[in-house]
Amino acid sequence: MLKLEKIDIYYSNVQALKAVSLNVNAGEIVTLIGANGAGKSTILKAVSGLIRTKAGSINYFEESIKNMPTENIVAKGISYVPEGRRIFPGLTVFGNLEVATSSWRRFGESFEKDLKNVFKLFPQLKARIDHLGWALSGGEQQMLAIGRGLMARPKLLMLDEPSLGLAPKLVKSVFETIKQINEQGTTILLVEQNAFAALQVADRGYALKNGRIVLSGLIKDLTTNKEVREAFIGG
Ligand SMILES: Nc1ncnc2c1ncn2[C@@H]1O[C@H](COP(=O)(O)OP(=O)(O)OP(=O)(O)O)[C@@H](O)[C@H]1O
Ligand SMILES: [Mg+2]
Repeated sequence: MLKLEKIDIYYSNVQALKAVSLNVNAGEIVTLIGANGAGKSTILKAVSGLIRTKAGSINYFEESIKNMPTENIVAKGISYVPEGRRIFPGLTVFGNLEVATSSWRRFGESFEKDLKNVFKLFPQLKARIDHLGWALSGGEQQMLAIGRGLMARPKLLMLDEPSLGLAPKLVKSVFETIKQINEQGTTILLVEQNAFAALQVADRGYALKNGRIVLSGLIKDLTTNKEVREAFIGG
């Protein structure tokens, strides 16, 4: 589905990604783990066309999407839920969800089915449908951010640190929901600092260090790997 080959990315003259190659197959949950500043978010931003990829290739279903405008990438079915739940604080829950349908919806077309699906995953949001974004709790904002990502009807959903700052009970429920979304047929690329939790839901993973992929493989191999345990899970 998605294939990155040897991509290089710079922020002015500082190189953030060095020859990063990875692939995501349809139906998988793939996770990117790594410490602060390793380059995880940069990978997702590059796939979304939010930053310029200097060298290498980014293909989606065999078609190059490298440096394509973000709206075209979203319209092709790649949805990015950024770090820090950037919902619209001045829009209601409904408004936040509606906005995201613009990638596929023609004027007047119904999105009731999509809305129902989001509310089935996050019943709490339904109860808050008329509440403004800023008035939601942190957990609700994260649910809304994921829900908004889904409203774009993605084939590939990219989630950046969905568990950041959430209470442990909510972390568990966010990961359960990610699993559920995947079971409904959406492929997932998940960035997490909570490597332990991420590795529990994912099929495969890549470990990043200083802008390079240092390890990759099936979760069962990564979780038993001594280096991964020491560097990311803690012994
Ligand atoms: N807008 C920017 N301008 C300059 N440098 C940046 C910018 N964004 C990121 N960087 C640098 O690029 C590198 C990779 O950053 P990135 O945000 O991808 O890391 P990350 O793995 O997502 O980290 P975190 O876990 O903190 O979110 C870091 O060294 C970071 O300081
Ligand atoms: Mg990041």
